[in-house]
Amino acid sequence: MPFVPDTDTRRVALVTGAARGIGRAVATALARDGFAVVVNCSGEKSLPAAQEFADELAETYGVPAAACAADVSDADAVDTLFAFVADTYGRLDVLVNNAGITRDGSLLRMSEDDFDRVIAVNLKSAFLTSRRAAKIMMKQRWGRIINMASIVGVVGNAGQANYAASKAGIIGLTKTIAREFGARHITANAIAPGFIATDMTAELPEKMLAGMNDRIALKRMGKPEEVAELAAFLASDRAAYITGQVIGIDGGMSL
Ligand SMILES: NC(=O)c1ccc[n+]([C@@H]2O[C@H](COP(=O)([O-])OP(=O)(O)OC[C@H]3O[C@@H](n4cnc5c(N)ncnc54)[C@H](O)[C@@H]3O)[C@@H](O)[C@H]2O)c1
Repeated sequence: MPFVPDTDTRRVALVTGAARGIGRAVATALARDGFAVVVNCSGEKSLPAAQEFADELAETYGVPAAACAADVSDADAVDTLFAFVADTYGRLDVLVNNAGITRDGSLLRMSEDDFDRVIAVNLKSAFLTSRRAAKIMMKQRWGRIINMASIVGVVGNAGQANYAASKAGIIGLTKTIAREFGARHITANAIAPGFIATDMTAELPEKMLAGMNDRIALKRMGKPEEVAELAAFLASDRAAYITGQVIGIDGGMSL
């Protein structure tokens, strides 16, 4: 049964890195579906825009929405974020680990710093947030953890050793969470997008973009909203029996 919003038991969703791109589309879809939403952005500089977006969600969908700046690779910042969620809503039902970065380069040229930073933002962040979220969800005996992986985490990608390793790590983390918390009605799933039109892919060198559509069965890039629909489904009661899965959404790119 689809989730029916009710002011007494309205479910709360936290989306990391939600100020733009896929995270923004996910936050929008969840607000549309009746969730109260916490829009996380990476720092104080992006907070006014994230706040404006949260206000927009509240006005458009009539749900509570709030914004909180926190670098999710930082344990203290994650503590602050979860204190904000507890103070603002007093519960958490859905966690979407979406924040992510790239620092591409061939393995031979990749610096240790570029490796560490990508692992910290893309993978360690999900460990930090999931252990906080799982504690709350266990008490509520219901929860959804949705992690943004990538098809690159499954098949690898030349020039993205750090990014591919972080996304493969996310998949292992997701499956483990699914096993550890299944008995508490908490599901954990990974979404593995292919090539989605966002600022992240707009930064790619021309060389990498050329001929990309030819490698995709549907012959086009995906839209953030298309990924968001999958996240919204996984967050809903309709996906109650799906856990520990890596669900590709790539227009057939990985075929
Ligand atoms: N765009 C694609 O083709 C694609 C494909 C596969 C997977 N993904 C994944 O989807 C997710 C969203 O990507 P996108 O394309 O929307 O990228 P994007 O660059 O548009 O958005 C990423 C968001 O994460 C935020 N962020 C970065 N570091 C952060 C930190 N330390 N703390 C909090 N927030 C932080 C950014 O501020 C930004 O809002 C990422 O995890 C990405 O790896 C994207």
